[in-house]
Amino acid sequence: MIAKKPPMGWNSWNTFTKDINEKLIFETADKMVEEGLLDAGYEYLVIDDCWSEKERDENGQLVADHVKFPHGMKYVADYVHSKGLKFGMYSCCGLMTCAGYPASFGHEFDDANYFASVGIDLLKYDNCYHPSSPSILSYARMGIALRQTGREIVYSLCNWGNEEVWKWARSVGGHMYRSTGDIMDNFESIKRLSNSQKENLGYSATGCYNDIDMLVTGMSGKGNISRKEGEGCTDGEYRYHFAMWCLFSSPLMIGCDIRNMSPETKALLLNKELIAINQDEDARPPIFIADNHGRPDNTICVKFLADGTYAVGMFNTYDRKVTGILPYYEMGLDPLCGYALEYTDVFTGENLGIRKDFGEFEIEPHDCRVFRARLVKVK
Ligand code: GAL
Repeated sequence: MIAKKPPMGWNSWNTFTKDINEKLIFETADKMVEEGLLDAGYEYLVIDDCWSEKERDENGQLVADHVKFPHGMKYVADYVHSKGLKFGMYSCCGLMTCAGYPASFGHEFDDANYFASVGIDLLKYDNCYHPSSPSILSYARMGIALRQTGREIVYSLCNWGNEEVWKWARSVGGHMYRSTGDIMDNFESIKRLSNSQKENLGYSATGCYNDIDMLVTGMSGKGNISRKEGEGCTDGEYRYHFAMWCLFSSPLMIGCDIRNMSPETKALLLNKELIAINQDEDARPPIFIADNHGRPDNTICVKFLADGTYAVGMFNTYDRKVTGILPYYEMGLDPLCGYALEYTDVFTGENLGIRKDFGEFEIEPHDCRVFRARLVKVK
């Protein structure tokens, strides 16, 4: 089985969109290793849309843009692999990619064979200009074409959550499926996308994961998708974003320019405890606790982890500090049962001791608290 854990890596789209080239990809590959991202689990380097020429060659084959990738894509794949990374590329199930490049409709086998000959380990498969037949057919076509290559390729569906993709992504050979429209580099977008998936997480499981979209962590309004007035998030908002993606077992695809990460961005993306919560082999969806502030987009949740402990996430969408409360009876623990939780803060590593009846914690505005909690006997 591939994708035993939510795939982790970097994708070119959020920061660079069409402004990609061999030099950028090589530098990014180098940095993924030098900055410790590969060691932390970020193993896929994925080139998104805009990598090819605008026309196929005389044999109908996709060809790399001669200016951006003068040595072709196999050369790039070989370099990425030489760093110990895995390599991902992009196509689309329609007549053209979203940015107007050749796409794979009617060319599924040729393109899958081309991608396998390049040596890709992941294919992101988009949904623009798609035929009017049901999505499940378009995605099954490429699912079959990829399998016949004999190469292990993570199949990353990107139909933006249309046609309840969570119900059939696994059936067509998918390993991850975009469940939302495109993320933007602002807090509203982060909240909207993640809240929209709370009801669907029961479908996400080991081998095929709900992908709430790539991370905007660390972009700080500087990416090509975020060059609008007011874009960018605070460190607290990026914490909220990254931690929620971890608790929801979403793939973690970094979208910032990793050649220029701030210390805060680096610490967040490399937080071992959060990554362990994301990569937990059971990939269980969290229990959502009714919010004690009456605000439906505030989230308190508890994820059962494979080692018998729990991850507790408390997320504050208010513009002011709130006290996050975890009433134990709402996670199935009777306050009189003689057991309570002992909390360790995943950001500071501090053991916060045992809380009886409620875990009560202050949460900064637009920020979160996340704990690893252990059940202990208290009487
Ligand atoms: C969108 C997709 C983005 C990016 C873009 C490329 O449809 O959701 O993640 O791949 O196309 O054009």
